Amino acid sequence: MCGIVGCILKDNDSNAAPILFDCISKLEYRGYDSIGLATYENENIYVKKDEGKINEVNKKLDLPDMPGSFGIAHVRWATHGDPSKLNAHPQLDEENEIAVVHNGIIENNTKLKEELMAEGHTFRSDTDTEVIPHLIQKFMDEGLDLEHAVRKTIEKLEGAYAIAAISLREPDKIVATRKDSPLIVGLGEDGYYLASDSPAILKYARDIIYPEKGEIVILDKSGAVVHDEFDNVVNKEIDTINWTPEMAEKEGYDHFMIKEINEQATAVRNTLTQRENIENIIKDFDDITRICFVACGTSYHASLTGKYLIESLAGIPTDVILASEFKFSQKTLNENTLVIFISQSGETADSLKALDVANETSKTLGIVNVAGSSITRRAQYVIQTQAGPEIGVAATKTYVSQLTAIYLFAALMAKDENLLNELNNVPDFIDEVLKDVESIKSMSKRYNYAKDFFYLGRGYSYPTALEGALKLKEISYIHGEGYAAGELKHGPLALIDEGIPVVVVIPPGDSHKKTMSNLEEVKSRGARVLAFGAADDEELALKAPEVFKINPEVSEIIAPLVYIVPLQLLSYYITIEKGFDPDKPRNLAKCVTVE
Ligand code: F6R
Repeated sequence: MCGIVGCILKDNDSNAAPILFDCISKLEYRGYDSIGLATYENENIYVKKDEGKINEVNKKLDLPDMPGSFGIAHVRWATHGDPSKLNAHPQLDEENEIAVVHNGIIENNTKLKEELMAEGHTFRSDTDTEVIPHLIQKFMDEGLDLEHAVRKTIEKLEGAYAIAAISLREPDKIVATRKDSPLIVGLGEDGYYLASDSPAILKYARDIIYPEKGEIVILDKSGAVVHDEFDNVVNKEIDTINWTPEMAEKEGYDHFMIKEINEQATAVRNTLTQRENIENIIKDFDDITRICFVACGTSYHASLTGKYLIESLAGIPTDVILASEFKFSQKTLNENTLVIFISQSGETADSLKALDVANETSKTLGIVNVAGSSITRRAQYVIQTQAGPEIGVAATKTYVSQLTAIYLFAALMAKDENLLNELNNVPDFIDEVLKDVESIKSMSKRYNYAKDFFYLGRGYSYPTALEGALKLKEISYIHGEGYAAGELKHGPLALIDEGIPVVVVIPPGDSHKKTMSNLEEVKSRGARVLAFGAADDEELALKAPEVFKINPEVSEIIAPLVYIVPLQLLSYYITIEKGFDPDKPRNLAKCVTVE
């Protein structure tokens, strides 16, 4: 959902544009419809922007080649107005004296535009953002400085925003603010930085300040100052990020997604270190009689596994609610309910909205990958997954890390020592799967023709089927449908036709026999079955024409942490076969900061 950065270098003779370009390139996962930069030098604001992916636009415009030691930049994921040069950010006022980058949505932009037009303003773009530089211009015309013009502007705005502005009238300064969209401030050796997310600035600054809603950040060459609504200086805590700049690089891999798939054993190992933290947290949960997971997308699938684990191991009734549908459950919460928010980014608007509601009545716990993100600051308890930065839009290593945290939580709640011990084997199991990548590559060559796929799993493997199907559709644009294997005969079986690929997730265990019957049902109707099961499963070898063998044997309960890996690989290689970019699927952005 759009990414913004800002940078002001201490040395007047240094050039900000190459750094701005480098930083904003790291946020391409947040939007790749258009890119733009604005810098300032010698009473001029320089702007370069256009529609298109970063590399395409850069080839045309040579973005790092701009003068000035400070500026702002933006990558866009269009919400209001088509992707086009005019709609790309920075957006400017009429006199080209104020440049603004914005992440979020200004919900009352139509009304504001009408009011400004009645006052004589003319607009050039279809964006909701353009009202912001116009309002700043209006208030500066009335005599306010940039900081106070920004403050007065946000009083008028409804919706979500992280904004950074520069002005010709008050140079050598960047003013920024936020409400419901993320914004961090980086304090570096050579300068000061703003960004929507930390991977953007890791190379330049790892000491971070997190501005709160309504606070105004002023960056100049002497530092970063944060003011509250009464103009008081706020003494912000400085956090040091332990992620390294290399973590946000491809490091020789073709794509972030395949790099991140390969980092999963490490992500699980690192997340297992959270055991003590979780033990301490759950001491406060003795009075909990019901648990609700709230999440979206992949994080929702991790939550479903959580329901099965917690209900079967700890016997606590557990619901899983899509964050965007949460309001219907609001009245069922009470002080004995624990609401668990699962999120990679910690900034998903639907989840944040639900979190604010849940905080009013219940205990809330965030299981989040990005340190310092809004969910980590608003939830009462936090478990941080240790996947490191995830840049590929499709969640992979953060999914297995979420699962790891959920398994630890459930096993500790249920005091299940066996499961806790078994978890330690998961990194090795994952590494074993990754050794057999050639089988998946050749599978992907045989199946990339398909228009539809089905994914079946039962019990613990049902969320794996859902997640496998989501991975396929979001990056390869092939329709993938995940189903509980037993549910197929209640309708979707009608769609099974000659040649349709059906992925069957069938680890050894209680559900094996019944899933095998479902496998036979689809096979007898002409489906091409791709089974994912144990290497020594002789029955499976006989009945399924195509088997990806998981070796050594992984128990059914642990299977979700391991069986998802070949499904991620299958989606990745099918996408490569089809010639698409798995890191930047069309229409999607990594961090969904609008409802
Ligand atoms: C899919 C994917 C999305 C996210 C969803 C929630 O690969 O990444 O479905 O899982 O948008 O995002 P977070 O986890 O950041 O709240």
